[in-house]
Amino acid sequence: MQVTLKIHRFNPEKDQKPYWAEYQVEAEPGDRVLDLLNHVKWYLDPTLTYRRSCAHGVCGSDAMLINGRNRLACKVLIKDLGNKITVEPIRGLKVEKDLLVDMDPFFDAYKAVLPFFINDDPVPAGERLQSVEDRERFDQGTKCILCAACTTSCPIFWVNGRYLGPAAIVQAHRFIFDSRDKGTDQRLKVLNQNTGVWRCRTAYNCTEACPREIPVTQLIEEVKRAVLYQQV
Ligand code: SF4
Ligand code: F3S
Ligand code: FES
Repeated sequence: MQVTLKIHRFNPEKDQKPYWAEYQVEAEPGDRVLDLLNHVKWYLDPTLTYRRSCAHGVCGSDAMLINGRNRLACKVLIKDLGNKITVEPIRGLKVEKDLLVDMDPFFDAYKAVLPFFINDDPVPAGERLQSVEDRERFDQGTKCILCAACTTSCPIFWVNGRYLGPAAIVQAHRFIFDSRDKGTDQRLKVLNQNTGVWRCRTAYNCTEACPREIPVTQLIEEVKRAVLYQQV
């Protein structure tokens, strides 16, 4: 099928402002948007810039606004989009070039919630055991691939980039609700600040955007309750 692919482009070194570039690309219905972008870059215009790595929905590098929705370019099939496709960079982060955005603020928020295991107890001889139920308690958060589709679809993040955002809160949830972790007080303190969970207005865009089908808003609500009652 013939696809009209419109890409939002911007090179700050030579463009006064962003513009739409249009390409006609021959595609199979089972191709992904990433295949089309690769075709443009490899055969039509090598200056097109975007991130990608695994091409299989694992690394989280190619979140983009595709036909108005945040998705992973390597996971969306052309047959589900039709023959007119628009691709833009994710919103709320500075565009470095074309579809490439500055991810530093996103990862700063990630680091702020201490996304690592904290436990100063003496290391046991064997594993730090937990029950199946305890492991289940934080399972959803372990599926996050840090693609930023959630945070960059959040209207609160768009207007206030200092909001830690849903991805950081999902990561915090993963450790807050881990029965082996002892860093909950430190994390809840961070999340109780004016850049934390109380910024969330339950818009649900994040849940709709998540390519891993993580119930992001639900996890945020659980973290809000943990902050409120200081217990998990
Ligand atoms: Fe991506 Fe979902 Fe993780 Fe957000 S919660 S960063 S959308 S995988
Ligand atoms: Fe934003 Fe998601 Fe809350 S879109 S307002 S973080 S529910
Ligand atoms: Fe890795 Fe799409 S390229 S998730």
